[in-house]
Amino acid sequence: LCENLMTSPRLWLIVPAAGIGQRMRAECPKQYLRINNRFILDITLSRLLDTGRFTGCMVPLNASDHWWPESDASNDNRIQTCSGGVERADSVLSALHALKEQVAPDDWVLVHDAARPCVHSADLANLVSTLMDHPVGGLLAAPVADTLKRADFGGLPEVAETVDRSQLWRALTPQMFRYSMLFSALETALQEKQPVTDESSAMEFSGNMPVLVEGRPDNIKITVPADLDLAGFILSRF
Ligand code: C5P
Repeated sequence: LCENLMTSPRLWLIVPAAGIGQRMRAECPKQYLRINNRFILDITLSRLLDTGRFTGCMVPLNASDHWWPESDASNDNRIQTCSGGVERADSVLSALHALKEQVAPDDWVLVHDAARPCVHSADLANLVSTLMDHPVGGLLAAPVADTLKRADFGGLPEVAETVDRSQLWRALTPQMFRYSMLFSALETALQEKQPVTDESSAMEFSGNMPVLVEGRPDNIKITVPADLDLAGFILSRF
């Protein structure tokens, strides 16, 4: 058992928090809006770090961020910060660079959006135990519940067709991949100007297909103002 513990890959956490959250139309980036008087970023980080699974945590921040010093997280010695980039993928790559000296190539990296404070510890545990021995890794995801329409461009959007949803899932976070595979997948995808809105898309582009691990659909990403009340309600039920 002891030998096993020594050789088993470790877990690292990256929480990209360098976005400016334009869709929230708020006076500050959405990760610094408050629920029950706490920054969303603080709620997200404490929920993940308090599971005690991570060897280290890197948070990429925007160069113009002046809220961070007010966060609880800034006083937490488990958390390191680095500078973020133009897009989410650039921020994640910058965090991977910043971790370089500390990680082994096969260590697992879990990337989780700062704007998803409702992540549930049971989902995190299930993600990790499902993927621990997998060669590629994967992500929390939820099957699509609504009927989906593709729209035609025009004045008022008009239905072009109904899309078969039976194989469609919403990609959530955390997304869990091995350090060196994720690093090269992100680097290549960005160099080749691929659209990379999550880590999985970069892995897919490299030909490594991630596993979809079903998670709770209430692991929402705070994106528009109405999501803030919804997240407050979800958190009050845990
Ligand atoms: O804007 P979006 O909702 O896709 O952002 C998802 C997460 O990625 C947020 O936590 C945001 O702070 C982060 N992000 C980032 N660097 C960027 C853009 C977004 O770290 N350049």
